Amino acid sequence: MIPLLSAFWILLCALGGATAWQAECAAFALPSSVGSSGTLIAATYYPAGALVNVTSSGGAVLSSALPAFCRVQLIINTGSRNLTNTEVWLPDAWDGRFLAVGNGGWSGGVVYSDLAYSGIVNGHASMSTDGGHSSSSLDGSWALNDPPAIIDYAYLSVHTSVVIAKEVVGAYYGSGGGFKSYWLGCSTGGRQGLMSVQRYPDDFDGVVVGSPANWISHLQAWSVHVNLLVSPQNGPSWISAATWALVHQEVLNQCDGLDGVVDGLLNDPRRCFFRPEVLACRPGQNTSTCLSSGQIGAIQKLYADYYETNGTYIFGRLEPGGELAYETGLLGPAPVELNTDYFKYMVLNDSNWDYTTLNYSTIQLADLIDTYRLDAVNPDIRGFAASPHNGKVIHYVGWADQLISPHNSLYYYEQMTTAMNLNTAMNVDDYYRLFPAPGMTHCSGGDGPNGFGGEGQSAAGQPPLLPDAEHDVLRAMIQWVEQGQAPEYFIATKYVNNNVSAGVQMTRPLCKFPTEIVYNGYGDTNNAGSFYCA
Ligand SMILES: *[C@@H]1O[C@H](CO)[C@@H](O)[C@H](O)[C@H]1NC(C)=O
Ligand SMILES: *[C@@H]1O[C@H](CO)[C@@H](O)[C@H](O)[C@H]1NC(C)=O
Ligand SMILES: *[C@@H]1O[C@H](CO)[C@@H](O)[C@H](O)[C@H]1NC(C)=O
Ligand SMILES: *[C@@H]1O[C@H](CO)[C@@H](O)[C@H](O)[C@H]1NC(C)=O
Ligand SMILES: *[C@@H]1O[C@H](CO)[C@@H](O)[C@H](O)[C@H]1NC(C)=O
Ligand SMILES: *[C@@H]1O[C@H](CO)[C@@H](O)[C@H](O)[C@H]1NC(C)=O
Ligand SMILES: *[C@@H]1O[C@H](CO)[C@@H](O)[C@H](O)[C@H]1NC(C)=O
Repeated sequence: MIPLLSAFWILLCALGGATAWQAECAAFALPSSVGSSGTLIAATYYPAGALVNVTSSGGAVLSSALPAFCRVQLIINTGSRNLTNTEVWLPDAWDGRFLAVGNGGWSGGVVYSDLAYSGIVNGHASMSTDGGHSSSSLDGSWALNDPPAIIDYAYLSVHTSVVIAKEVVGAYYGSGGGFKSYWLGCSTGGRQGLMSVQRYPDDFDGVVVGSPANWISHLQAWSVHVNLLVSPQNGPSWISAATWALVHQEVLNQCDGLDGVVDGLLNDPRRCFFRPEVLACRPGQNTSTCLSSGQIGAIQKLYADYYETNGTYIFGRLEPGGELAYETGLLGPAPVELNTDYFKYMVLNDSNWDYTTLNYSTIQLADLIDTYRLDAVNPDIRGFAASPHNGKVIHYVGWADQLISPHNSLYYYEQMTTAMNLNTAMNVDDYYRLFPAPGMTHCSGGDGPNGFGGEGQSAAGQPPLLPDAEHDVLRAMIQWVEQGQAPEYFIATKYVNNNVSAGVQMTRPLCKFPTEIVYNGYGDTNNAGSFYCA
């Protein structure tokens, strides 16, 4: 009887609590401090287990398994335009923290999937914005002759939304402003995170950045450039997906064992000096089993140290090991719309721009326009990292990234380290740590372990193996900010077919750069415990 009775009481209290939150949500009004910067569109309560069915180009949710929350929909007036859609999801079971999540590509939609699966399921009051326009993530045409729209997307929508979302959180929970704030974003979300660190150092205490698209002017030039090395389809340098698979096998033949483990993964592809000429077609050889001279030349350029033009460093190289995703990534029959739309709608304002005419003066123009606009490349992050703010950054990147050269991450890390070491007495390790992930493609996916709580991973069915600071990058960040314990490594998980329902295939530590993942020489290579960082 007694256990039953207490179960009844717990149920009653839970229901009473939910009713109270439901009433709080229904009556929610923006605090007067928000002023004309925000307009409340709706506040809708979803009881635990209610059907949540919301869709945008940023990421949909269709679930009846979410905890109870209040969905606050806002229009944000950035001071430039009054067109940013922002949502704040406020769980009943709040853990006392604020989380903002980032966008992908050219954005254009609230990222519902991350609000749900990185945010409220973990108890965080969570925010996402559409960046000030509605579009698919590949479509940049909204930017044509609309500088204020570009500025909103570049930094104002996120920043203004964060300021207002924090007011919403403080008002809703009656907590005032004493809570910690975190950012989780990959790709454009990584750019937005670094932009916050560089431009608005008070917005967050901890910023988790994945494969950032932070050097837009150079990234887009490089993306078009690498495509032109192989396109058009069936031209002399074209490499089909089947031929890339052949190249991948040869990369593994030449380089897989360099890290002491033959497992289909290059723990550090920088050690691989790949020689595609080994696959050159011999007289009479079936050409689907070998490479033409055009293909060899293209691969040599793609894997050269870096891309430079007119003596200017543009961007890092593609890495050997990522071949299986290159044809569906940047190296398809033509450049990705996202890449050409940058020059068409944000640089040249010419929707008829012919990408085959990309040249150095266009890159120079992009540099000039975007240094203080879209690019988040300022290496001086003293405002964020130094006392009294003491902010922290965790940065990760997949070595098999098919959309943004992983070297972009190393490049920013080294630029930042140089500038900070020249200007401060602080140790970089005390505020910024970088973790490369073997075999992981852009933000998630690929042959390597790629579930560790990075943005979009949980929503894509690859959650961290365990909800703790050793397996989840966001929990590691929280532990660093709140307990001062910094991560040396994470354990990333590879699920069979990159699907959690199919079970675990392997785990492996991701080591803090520049330490490397080292095999102990005897353990199960599918087990993280057989590796250490050195
Ligand atoms: C911003 O837009 C909203 C929704 O269209 C509107 O209700 C609000 O009055 C506008 N605010 C300002 C300051 O123009
Ligand atoms: C979810 O919403 C969409 C669009 O409103 C609708 O077509 C669909 O039937 C809904 N799904 C469920 C399971 O209710
Ligand atoms: C194109 O428009 C953007 C603003 O939208 C401006 O910064 C840029 O200078 C323009 N480019 C040219 C070539 O006029
Ligand atoms: C060439 O190799 C491909 C792939 O192995 C095979 O499908 C094709 O039949 C071969 N062609 C000839 C002429 O042998
Ligand atoms: C570079 O490209 C721009 C834009 O397409 C074009 O106007 C210019 O003439 C080109 N410059 C050179 C040197 O080809
Ligand atoms: C870049 O180099 C090319 C080839 O040497 C040259 O033709 C071109 O004028 C240079 N462009 C600029 C803007 O300096
Ligand atoms: C993941 O696996 C489960 C069970 O095998 C299956 O039902 C589901 O469709 C898979 N999800 C994806 C995205 O493939």
